[in-house]
Amino acid sequence: MTDQDKSREQLIQDLNGLRQRLERLEARQRRARQALYESQQQLQQAQKMETLGTLVAGVAHEINNPLNLIMYNIPLLKKIWKDFLPILIEQKRIRPEQKFGGFAYDFLEDNLAQLIADMEMATQRVAKTVADLKNYTRQSNVAEKAPMQVNAAVNNAVRLAKTTLRKSSVRVKLELQDGLPPIEGNLQSIEQIILNILINAIQAIDHRQGEIHISTGYQTRDGRVYVRIQDNGKGISTELADKVFLPFITDKQNEGGTGLGLSVTYSLVEAHQGEITYDSDTGQGTAFTVYLPTPLNREGARILVVDDDNSIRQMLIEGLTFKHRFLVEEASNGIEASIKLGTYRPDLVILDIFMPEMDGVEVCRSILSEPELADMQVIITTGYPDHPKLDEVVELGFTNIFSKPFDLLKFIDDVAVILADRRTGMQIESS
Ligand SMILES: Nc1ncnc2c1ncn2[C@@H]1O[C@H](COP(=O)(O)OP(=O)(O)OP(=O)(O)O)[C@@H](O)[C@H]1O
Ligand SMILES: [Mg+2]
Repeated sequence: MTDQDKSREQLIQDLNGLRQRLERLEARQRRARQALYESQQQLQQAQKMETLGTLVAGVAHEINNPLNLIMYNIPLLKKIWKDFLPILIEQKRIRPEQKFGGFAYDFLEDNLAQLIADMEMATQRVAKTVADLKNYTRQSNVAEKAPMQVNAAVNNAVRLAKTTLRKSSVRVKLELQDGLPPIEGNLQSIEQIILNILINAIQAIDHRQGEIHISTGYQTRDGRVYVRIQDNGKGISTELADKVFLPFITDKQNEGGTGLGLSVTYSLVEAHQGEITYDSDTGQGTAFTVYLPTPLNREGARILVVDDDNSIRQMLIEGLTFKHRFLVEEASNGIEASIKLGTYRPDLVILDIFMPEMDGVEVCRSILSEPELADMQVIITTGYPDHPKLDEVVELGFTNIFSKPFDLLKFIDDVAVILADRRTGMQIESS
């Protein structure tokens, strides 16, 4: 091969490398744009809910006072009418043609009690709406959060729905994953979230083969626990599809629905820094999923990124802070890394092997010599996976080895798994 051929081949190789890098960059950009779009949508929805919350709180307050007056007076009217009726019947015999407000004796005798009862029912309906509204506005400051198990909340909610379930003949199938990491939450609020979705699911089933499937699990990729409630009911109608989380959106006016259930649910989920989504197929059913962060995901694990290549360090940092709330520090060589291991105390080190001055193998040795770093996780990265230095690293007991270049998103998922395993001390299934 001539020198010219060689340099041509080299040029082609360089070009291919550049093309691959460009494709990777474009893919990253596409993903970032999509994520930005989704966060903007969520932000808009959250702002809308907040404005509505303020408005609704004011309306609820204004309605409550006059409503109390009416609710207080109606039972009095009932009592008065009961005592008054015999007098009216007596009077009817003396002056049968007399009318009251245009109504004859017979009409009053037959209907007045019912008219009052109707008024009482209507005010009770308003009272329920106001109570729901108050509940709706209380959402954002869910008090007293404590570590709790989502599965316990599911079991309680199902117990609370027992009567409704019995009346409906709908069957509930539970598939609750054991050993979920606890969430930081308010048990009653989480029960309410599940109950609201469950009751809607029961109400959406209009046939005899009703089945509701409730499952829970853990997502390693974002450290969140989820509850999924799936029904085989009629599905969310297309007119309501984008609006179900807004207050007063209901197709149950005739059954006394206020349309506040899901907006309360949405707010309670928000108050737990969670997320709620749904999928629905007309005639097939609906599945609501609530995602709740675990402390692992919320607190953010501490990660030290060690690499002498600045662009690789920046790419890793961008990836690690993009989806997760990891706290990331960086070091550009082994000496800097050794200092930061002591001062920053990371949960995980992502360590390049080939670096000038003090290389990754030496950093591994210094990690082993520090008993205080014993439960720290280490991920080794290298562009030369076949180099004998890697054997040394494996012999020292460091076996999480990633060859560069790697798929960044997949790598971040793996980081989350490695951290989750360490924090919860259990094997977590990847979803
Ligand atoms: N699982 C479901 N299947 C089909 N439609 C649903 C389901 N869940 C909610 N919906 C639709 O979303 C609407 C809003 O639900 P939401 O719980 O907010 O109010 P509601 O159930 O109508 O009244 P309430 O205030 O008593 O809860 C419902 O009226 C229904 O049309
Ligand atoms: Mg409801």
